[in-house]
Amino acid sequence: MKVLVVGSGGREHALCWNIRKNSRVKEVYCAPGNAGITEIAKCVDIKASDLDGLVEFAQQEKIDLTIVGPEDPLTRGLVDLMESKGMKVFGPRASAAAIEGSKILAKDLMVKYGIPTAKYATFTDWQKAEKYINELNGPCVVKADGLAAGKGVIIAREKDEALAAVRQIMKDKAFGSAGDTLLVEEMLEGEEVSILAFTDGKTVIPMLPAQDHKRVFDDDQGPNTGGMGAYAPAPVGTKEIQKYALESILIPMVKAMAAEGRPYKGVIYAGLMITPKGPQVLEFNARFGDPEAQPVLMMLKSDLLEIIEAVIEERLDQVKVEWKDGASVCVVMASGGYPGEYQKGIEISGLDKVPQGVSVFHAGTSLKDGKVVTNGGRVLGITAEAESISSAIDLVYKGVREIEFEGAHYRNDIGQKALRIK
Ligand code: AMP
Ligand code: GLY
Repeated sequence: MKVLVVGSGGREHALCWNIRKNSRVKEVYCAPGNAGITEIAKCVDIKASDLDGLVEFAQQEKIDLTIVGPEDPLTRGLVDLMESKGMKVFGPRASAAAIEGSKILAKDLMVKYGIPTAKYATFTDWQKAEKYINELNGPCVVKADGLAAGKGVIIAREKDEALAAVRQIMKDKAFGSAGDTLLVEEMLEGEEVSILAFTDGKTVIPMLPAQDHKRVFDDDQGPNTGGMGAYAPAPVGTKEIQKYALESILIPMVKAMAAEGRPYKGVIYAGLMITPKGPQVLEFNARFGDPEAQPVLMMLKSDLLEIIEAVIEERLDQVKVEWKDGASVCVVMASGGYPGEYQKGIEISGLDKVPQGVSVFHAGTSLKDGKVVTNGGRVLGITAEAESISSAIDLVYKGVREIEFEGAHYRNDIGQKALRIK
């Protein structure tokens, strides 16, 4: 069969890498892909945001299955469009992906259906938001309602930071129309865990718990990013927490979506904070996490294609999802300046020097005169699998140290939290 993967990040590289190993797959295409993906799939020059272009290509090439990676085409209805043409496509429809596209919708549904989450208030008027923050007079979190590539959330320990965030989002429109509405949330303290699950709208099968590292610098310092590294399984997601997440968060949310006329099929991602009062939902995403997908897919023992087909055909109850023993760790190497401004087009060296057991998933890379150069903020996700987290950490950093590009930066502490929990 012919499979099309939509997107160009490390997550899509990991998806192509997994799907390509399947003997039923004759050809993997990726739109638009990146330099690394060209080595294992045919990259086609169609942006993930070009819905009509993607549909036309899938029709022309007689693609048997399309897997949609990023949130933008999901929230804009790529799945609806492809389904309306009778195509087989993996991911939630726009009405369901809206749990990621609108943080306010997600919060309102959580409250309505009793899913634990931080207290919040919403504003369309910056003066009212400022007044609320002044009254709160303490730490809070300010969030743009819409999509902002993981950067529309400002953690404000002090009132002035929160007021500055309101100005940035609502007055300066730092995230465009995503900031027409904003949320001010209670600040939660604790450790984070990402619990992703496959669902066909009826059955929900969780994946291994993973932990992302959102802040740009070691020890969770600096601004939030799309994610600087991840590992799985994350011990903070204990058996009890996994059970609670399934029974009190994921299943209720999937049921809620059905009850709201937004049937959910695909991957549902709950970002949780493990607080002293128990797990609380920080966000829902409508897709695999990036970089969580890289270590999680590396640990998947079962056939991903079979799971995806079962989701689409609504027979997930007939499938067993199994995981390998051991652990996987992914370290993101980013461009100098990321998550702020950064340069592109810088040559990357050492890609072929990583030790065995290490995979280099590309994100923001492209080919220039036959050379691999940087082309985005998060450039590479170096990912290793080993018998334990600590050996996966040792191995992955051996890989990271072989790779160089001017200005490259990465965190040195990916996975360390797992070693502290014992
Ligand atoms: P979100 O996109 O809503 O998940 O927010 C991105 C990141 O901001 C989360 O992964 C957390 O690290 C942090 N964050 C979001 N909401 C809160 C909150 N209420 N309290 C503390 N940290 C938060
Ligand atoms: N790594 C966080 C996300 O994919 O949203």
